[in-house]
Amino acid sequence: MKWYAGSDHAGLALKRQLVEMLRKLGDEVIDIGTNDDKSVDYPSFGAEVGRRVAAESTARGLVVCGTGIGISIAANKVPGIRCALVHDSFTAEMARSHNDANIVALGARVVGGGVAEHALTTFRATAFEGGRHQRRVDMLGADKQ
Ligand code: RB5
Repeated sequence: MKWYAGSDHAGLALKRQLVEMLRKLGDEVIDIGTNDDKSVDYPSFGAEVGRRVAAESTARGLVVCGTGIGISIAANKVPGIRCALVHDSFTAEMARSHNDANIVALGARVVGGGVAEHALTTFRATAFEGGRHQRRVDMLGADKQ
């Protein structure tokens, strides 16, 4: 599986941990930054991961900031992106099976490394259920809801 990963300064350490985990699982990960502790603006990184994932239908995204909120909002402004802010394995599973999320967002100041790894592992392994959920996901991508 191919991933684009991004974070701001607050999400950097957790992003690095999760990128390493994905690579150990054999996935390809392109880390678009940030790469140091200097304070940066999360919208730029969320939007860039969003653009990369939107351009590559089979790719997935991982975005991390302090809460996961700001960077998920930024990613979701890109057409074609369904970025889900998850807090645990259950929300990660639902994000894939019901919402067909193509980007997962995590808050480094909200969840610990173990919970985050478990959530990401679940997100990675869970398929979209389709069926009645397909119509709803289609509505998310349409001009009207
Ligand atoms: C940075 O201090 C913080 O605001 C950011 O990482 C994120 O939590 C925003 O949603």
